[in-house]
Amino acid sequence: MRASQPALWALLKAAGTPLVGPVRKVPRLGWVVTDPILARNILNDHGHFTLLGEGGVGHLWQQVLGDYVLRIFDGPGHADLRKRGRDLFTDANSGPLVEAVAGPVVDAMAERLAAGATVDVARTARTVVGRMMADLLGLRMPDDAPDAAYLEVFATGERLASLALGSTASTVLKPQTVAEAKTIIAKLTRDVPESYATAPPSTLLGRCREAGISLEEARGLASLLLVAGTETAASAMGRTVALLHDTGQQHALLGDRSLLADAVREGLRVTTPAPVIGRHVSQDVEIGGRRMRSGERVLMLTYTANNAAGRFDLRRPYDPETRQLWFGGGRHLCLGAPVARAEVARMLSGVLASGRPYRVVERRYARGVLIPSYASLRIAVL
Ligand code: HEM
Repeated sequence: MRASQPALWALLKAAGTPLVGPVRKVPRLGWVVTDPILARNILNDHGHFTLLGEGGVGHLWQQVLGDYVLRIFDGPGHADLRKRGRDLFTDANSGPLVEAVAGPVVDAMAERLAAGATVDVARTARTVVGRMMADLLGLRMPDDAPDAAYLEVFATGERLASLALGSTASTVLKPQTVAEAKTIIAKLTRDVPESYATAPPSTLLGRCREAGISLEEARGLASLLLVAGTETAASAMGRTVALLHDTGQQHALLGDRSLLADAVREGLRVTTPAPVIGRHVSQDVEIGGRRMRSGERVLMLTYTANNAAGRFDLRRPYDPETRQLWFGGGRHLCLGAPVARAEVARMLSGVLASGRPYRVVERRYARGVLIPSYASLRIAVL
């Protein structure tokens, strides 16, 4: 995290000290919240907070996608869209989807690992996510497209996310940033209209059509998936593999595979790939004894809130305070959470498939990226 975003790292660490307290106003940034319960209260309070308006991610999107974002990214239009889209990703459909799209890539990595080769988990994670995105966006790719083609899909999604870098202090984008984001979205969602019209209900766009989600809404959703589900998922996969190694807890998991879901949950908690969630204050409100005024912005430092519970520990019971704050909360709770969990679980299963422990041969941190991640994480079995 420190290598990827040094300034954010300093903020997240400083905010975790008892001197700062659960809610504090920070010059230039606005309100900063580190308490998990207060953060969840804010995420659930749609009467006083919105993600449309300075400080919220919807504000970024409105500038790139247009004013229809105002109708479907928050408020009654969004609530209605989430209702229609409630079955888009479920635990029941996400496991098979990840297996079909990512299973062969992870299995190929696992075979090489078992044969004694050194493999790059971070690169495999990016390939997995690139494939998932191509599938979800209905991108027409040749059947024999090489990994490089999917790494390119990932890199394009990553470029889109990086345009949001620097928005911690303001979500107003420069005109050239808006133009670049529009070009990237046009490229990656180019096949959405045709796939929306023709794809079977077993696909995301087919399910959107069947659920009465319009093409415009599906295109907005597709753009959101790209930003929300690209770097975050790849980050969680690589960093959870590293955490299991660094804490020595891979041995516990090797001995008891029923701990897999706990490993995924702890990996998501400790890494919190989306370390900050922003909101715009739409009505004056009191939070944690502090008065927030309409027009101000709030940053919920979910990384700090989630990590206050302690270090990575497979035996840690479910924590009712944090719950799954790494996926946000309230109406905007991550739509792709079941997919993300299935991706991380599939990667961990692949890494442990040989039944032997692994060592990290070499690691390099990604720098200048929105979501802290490994540029490369090369492992080999012992
Ligand atoms: C480990 C991986 C992931 C993490 C940590 C994560 C985290 C989050 C968080 C914190 C939010 C809430 C943002 C807010 O309230 O402003 C969110 C929203 C969202 N996520 Fe994820 N996400 C992940 C993976 C994915 C994946 C794989 C997909 C899609 C396949 C996805 C799709 C979405 C969408 C569409 C939203 C917007 C939901 C809404 O506004 O109603 N995410 N995600």
